[in-house]
Amino acid sequence: MRINTHYQDLEDSYLFSTIAKKVAQQSAEHPEQKIIRLGIGDVTLPLCPAVTDALHAAVDEMGNKETFHGYGPEQGYDFLREGIRGYYAQKGVALEAGEVFISDGAKSDLGNILDLFDRDNIVLVPDPVYPVYVDTNVMAGRKILYCDATEQNGFLPPPPQEVEADIIYLCSPNNPTGAAYNREQLGAWVAYAKANGAVILYDAAYEAFI
Ligand SMILES: Cc1ncc(COP(=O)(O)O)c(C=O)c1O
Repeated sequence: MRINTHYQDLEDSYLFSTIAKKVAQQSAEHPEQKIIRLGIGDVTLPLCPAVTDALHAAVDEMGNKETFHGYGPEQGYDFLREGIRGYYAQKGVALEAGEVFISDGAKSDLGNILDLFDRDNIVLVPDPVYPVYVDTNVMAGRKILYCDATEQNGFLPPPPQEVEADIIYLCSPNNPTGAAYNREQLGAWVAYAKANGAVILYDAAYEAFI
């Protein structure tokens, strides 16, 4: 048995502990400065009644012999998949039922989807960005390139013409900067991906805030 040695590469990239150390050092040296924190966050508001009521009702359903219904369908419940299709239809996007998959969350998906891709693919990640894109690829031993989000490019890096990437991560609105690409800017990324035969993994976790 041999272990995956790429896990050892994670030590150097544990971003949040690095940020915490830098913040502590900066505050100690410059107590008068206000620091805008773009590191790990936490939710601040409680779940709304629609969510807690549905969760309580679902637990009661599964806890009663009369209403218990075992495992759910592997691709997710139809009512939920249809609800998501309806949500996208409101925005003018027509999806087939088979295009919607209910998972246990984007974070696990970001790791799991990489099983589809060869290890030799080159990954392109905006910087800064949600660090899960980086860590999942570090663990797989892939080469990662960065495109810098700077004040000059409005924190929305355009496709780097000098680099050929295979797997591209876009996060819009971005975590942590909040910057959101417009249609034209996204079109430039799609053109770049097509020209390179690349795939875009598009994370729109915060689209409700646009
Ligand atoms: C950009 C982004 N994508 C995905 C996630 C995780 O999503 P989920 O809760 O569905 O795993 C987060 C959570 O912080 C995030 O900031």
